[in-house]
Amino acid sequence: MQRAGVFWKWCRPVWRESASVKGYDLGKKGCVMKKNRVTVPEVMAAKGKRKLTMLTAYDYPTALLVDQSNIDMILVGDSLAMVVLGHEDTLSVGMDAMIHHTLAVSRGAARSLVVGDMPFLSYHGSIEQAILNAGRFLKEGRAQAVKLEGGARVVPQVKAIVEAQIPVQGHIGLTPQSLAQFGGFKVQGKTADAARVLIDDAMALAEAGCFSIVLEGIPAPIAAMITEAVPIPTIGIGAGPHCDGQVLVIHDVLGLFERFVPKFVKQYVRLGDSIREALNRYREEVENGVFPGPEHAFSMNEEEAAKMEAPKRKKVRTAGGGR
Ligand code: KIV
Repeated sequence: MQRAGVFWKWCRPVWRESASVKGYDLGKKGCVMKKNRVTVPEVMAAKGKRKLTMLTAYDYPTALLVDQSNIDMILVGDSLAMVVLGHEDTLSVGMDAMIHHTLAVSRGAARSLVVGDMPFLSYHGSIEQAILNAGRFLKEGRAQAVKLEGGARVVPQVKAIVEAQIPVQGHIGLTPQSLAQFGGFKVQGKTADAARVLIDDAMALAEAGCFSIVLEGIPAPIAAMITEAVPIPTIGIGAGPHCDGQVLVIHDVLGLFERFVPKFVKQYVRLGDSIREALNRYREEVENGVFPGPEHAFSMNEEEAAKMEAPKRKKVRTAGGGR
């Protein structure tokens, strides 16, 4: 321990920095310690004790940033389809794309629990298909859990996936995969009858073995009732402040998705504006010959350079027959 401490005291700061980036922390006396990942039992135990945090991520650099911000869970959401791949809704993304992005996120997440979102039609065909697809998220994507949408109607799938030792997060309310049935992105559970169905759905999912449930786009008082009724954490998105935790799409939080901003989103920064400003400056500097400057170029030994003769420009025949 003592020797490791001395070693780390003397190593370059950038090295020490990369140790913490890659999932290792400098403990007391500077020795290297593996960061502990948030676990499913820890998420369950947080109910009533502390608020849980969750954000989406779809790639390695974003996962690193979310992980370094001590967010409990990273959701590789099927919102990938909209905010990264440019689709109208979440329906068009398939299993292979979800696994590809989940693996990239897993490479960046050392501490946050990674949840892979099961895409439309990946758990609707048969129980066997649901188990195999859920398993791919853990086996190939290196996630620690999966999420799927629906209430009582998906209980058989949830039970079978949990039986296969794969932790499941439920998702009810304004579930985007049911967009066609809902007739748009509409808040759910607004009548007493509809709210009762949501409460029953949440209880059924908890009984089926879900370790937590996302509540999306439902009135705050109903989310509070569900949170009170179920023994597992509720993670709200557009479901008010009484849930056990909150989740948002990271492109919304950072101001990177500008097509529309839902009412429940809080933009903490407008990165879209900053990025456009930076890219315009880059274009202007290239056009005006300001970039690259001497500090960005590689020099050459003057004697060697003097031996070089400038090559003559060759004539190039273009498709149009001209020069
Ligand atoms: O896909 C997603 O990002 C989600 C969240 C909105 C909960 O399901």
